[in-house]
Amino acid sequence: MTQNKILCDIGFIGLGVMGKNLVLNLADNGYNIAAFDLSNEKVQAVISQDEVENTTNTPRVYGCSSCTELLSQLKAPHLIVLSVPAGAPVDQICENLIDAGILPDDIIIDTGNSLWIDTVAREKKYQSNFLLFSSAVSGGEVGARFGPSLMPSGSPYAWDRVKPIWEAIAAKVDTTTGKPIERTQPGQVITDGEPCATYIGPAGAGHYVKMVHNGIEYADMQIICEAYHVLKSGLNLNCDEIADIFAEWNNGPLDSYLMEISVEVLRHKSSDTNTPLVDLILDKAGQKGTGLWTAMSSLEVGCPAPTIAQAVYARSISSFKELRTQASSLFGSPQQVIVSKEEKQQVVEQLHDAMYCAKICAYAQGFQLMKLAAKEHGWTLNFASIAKIWRAGCIIRAAFLQSIAQAYERNEDLENLLLDDFFVKELNSRQQNWRKAICYATMQGVPIGALSSSLAYYDSIRSETLPANLLQGQRDYFGAHTFERIDKASGKKYHVEWSTNERKTILVDS
Ligand code: 6PG
Repeated sequence: MTQNKILCDIGFIGLGVMGKNLVLNLADNGYNIAAFDLSNEKVQAVISQDEVENTTNTPRVYGCSSCTELLSQLKAPHLIVLSVPAGAPVDQICENLIDAGILPDDIIIDTGNSLWIDTVAREKKYQSNFLLFSSAVSGGEVGARFGPSLMPSGSPYAWDRVKPIWEAIAAKVDTTTGKPIERTQPGQVITDGEPCATYIGPAGAGHYVKMVHNGIEYADMQIICEAYHVLKSGLNLNCDEIADIFAEWNNGPLDSYLMEISVEVLRHKSSDTNTPLVDLILDKAGQKGTGLWTAMSSLEVGCPAPTIAQAVYARSISSFKELRTQASSLFGSPQQVIVSKEEKQQVVEQLHDAMYCAKICAYAQGFQLMKLAAKEHGWTLNFASIAKIWRAGCIIRAAFLQSIAQAYERNEDLENLLLDDFFVKELNSRQQNWRKAICYATMQGVPIGALSSSLAYYDSIRSETLPANLLQGQRDYFGAHTFERIDKASGKKYHVEWSTNERKTILVDS
């Protein structure tokens, strides 16, 4: 097809895996795209792909060799989508677009995994040059192509212009079942269902929510990996046996995309050795930083998110392969717990419940973190809507997000998911199995930081009394940090004169 010059609806910069697939998704939904990437090969790749997939008689994607050319190919006011790595590349492109003549009424949408605070600063920095809007995207390559989950935020005026486009390309959920509507073919467009795109709030809010999505993603993945480890090293099951168990669990409350892909990875045989590929993959986890940001933010906001933090630690400790190899020769394994065939089945069932309970805790932590962050930053987040846009398209899509959405619909002020009736019942009925699974794994010497830190989180939340009384005593002893008393009026501060013989308790004037 020849590329006659027409004015395009959208400019797109950054044609990596996510960018290329978002372009094709936009094209399927009827938008013409002016596409630019620093690599001309990538520009050509998206044009060629569009030529293969395009069933209309006119090209849908127009290649550009610079930001200036891209602007000249766009309808005004210009709408430009960025899919470039977070950090300096985003600023570099913004500066290039300013040089190319972008106008104050033009919109740039940052779809990368930018640090939310950078987005806040950028919106301000560029306010006289253009409107910076952000929309985190989740769903990986396939999601970007056939319907991602989108977390837009920034100026409501910009959202009015972006909304129809975003709702068109987003994943869709069946309003009756709450389940994703399948879209798998190029050219296929889904016009019914609830789009997984909702306005999150002012600048930064969307990237914050996506950051927490990724923190939960880390926790969810780690929980699955720990269950795999227990089944493999505790019960000595092989990859196919573990895949069978996971596949069965994927029909129940653990039904999720991450379980589904774990089954596929476990079943996959390497093409060169014809043995399970997973056994050949080096056990050193990579990370790009969004899980770490979530854990850091949870510490800053003062919202416990131990399962998420553990998942980050688990990736870090996995990267110390040489240290672990050395230590493995120094420390003996615990005495193996031998279980009968019937007991094996029980361990499997206990592990299922442990995973489900740990998963509930990880999501509870993520949602409470968003709640406290929203309070701190003055955002009004709608948690039912956030749970709903995570039901399809994104990496953590899972059947039980419907239950989370319902919990927040029952009570939009819910302090923590664990307090919702549905989750109270789920946890109460499964906690015994959870504990047994933890005991079994611990006795086998299988590290289960995410499963067990979730249990400690749950036990802390459900404990009316914690040992912080002794801790306050310690702080008062060495630092005169004072404490409150349960037998006196709340808010009154006391101190013991520890260094005197009398060690009198005194009321401290505030
Ligand atoms: C998504 C993913 C995506 C990416 C993360 C994870 O929602 O589509 O979360 O954003 O896969 O960056 O990366 P790491 O595991 O490398 O941190």
